[in-house]
Amino acid sequence: MAASGASANDALTAAIDAFTAAGIETPRLDAEVLLAEIAGVDRADLIADRGLTLEPSAARAFSEAVRRRLRREPVAYILGSKGFRQIELAVDRRVLIPRPETEMLVELALEVRPRSALEVGTGSGAIALALADELPRCRVTATDVSDGAIEAAVSNATRLGLSGRVEFLLGSLPEGPEDFDLVLANLPYVPDSDGLPPEVGQWEPEGALFGGPDGTEVIAAVLKAMNENGIGAPTIGLEIGQGQGERVSVLLREAGWPETEVRLDLAGIDRVVVGRRPRPDMIEE
Ligand SMILES: C[S@@+](CC[C@H](N)C(=O)[O-])C[C@H]1O[C@@H](n2cnc3c(N)ncnc32)[C@H](O)[C@@H]1O
Repeated sequence: MAASGASANDALTAAIDAFTAAGIETPRLDAEVLLAEIAGVDRADLIADRGLTLEPSAARAFSEAVRRRLRREPVAYILGSKGFRQIELAVDRRVLIPRPETEMLVELALEVRPRSALEVGTGSGAIALALADELPRCRVTATDVSDGAIEAAVSNATRLGLSGRVEFLLGSLPEGPEDFDLVLANLPYVPDSDGLPPEVGQWEPEGALFGGPDGTEVIAAVLKAMNENGIGAPTIGLEIGQGQGERVSVLLREAGWPETEVRLDLAGIDRVVVGRRPRPDMIEE
């Protein structure tokens, strides 16, 4: 670092004050994450080294990042990337920023250890690419109705060296009929009338968020289309929102998965519904 540059500590304090005044929920964390990334230092070093100075280019880049954050742009879009499981995904406004709770769907896959898996609504490719990364023997197919999302997911696959491992399809489902060992989906599930924080409502793609009046309309439509197209799997895992466990369990039972289980996230909120059906070759005559 140049000895005569601007003080990192002063820049950080000014950003935290501005974020706090703007009502940003985690002002210190956001300022530290942005500055550490821009200055190319560990967050811990940034906090420990009070005498750190910034190159003029880093100081300018940080001012620009602060300006963007004050417009409530999410930190992940400003940095252009987000970690998920063991992979780093490029993210922009074409795709939902992957959330930590969505890792529960990958954990379900690690329990099932499928040889084939379908992910419906892949967005950045987070779930499908994590499966390809962690289950090297699994054949993964991933769909999305958004062409921007498919472009982003394909480019993430290439960057991560996983492009041969996932087949990405533009559309809701493979044409079928086709059997998979596991189907996973984090479809839009926010009820239409729900208010969202500006970071989500003003920046993330609308088509990734809203799921009709009670939030379960897209899920219901996809389950119906799966049956119509002959897309089957003995196990299915769906991410859901608060209070949707019972409703989505009923949808799954009606769609032919008689055994359902609601899993809670770390905040104690309904987060995943798992549906299971006996495999046709295991049903006793
Ligand atoms: C909540 S985002 C999830 C993205 C990603 N799987 C993740 O967990 O970060 C939902 C995604 O589903 C896509 N989508 C919406 N309706 C769909 C449908 N009927 N069939 C397939 N994909 C759909 C959206 O374009 C969006 O990318």
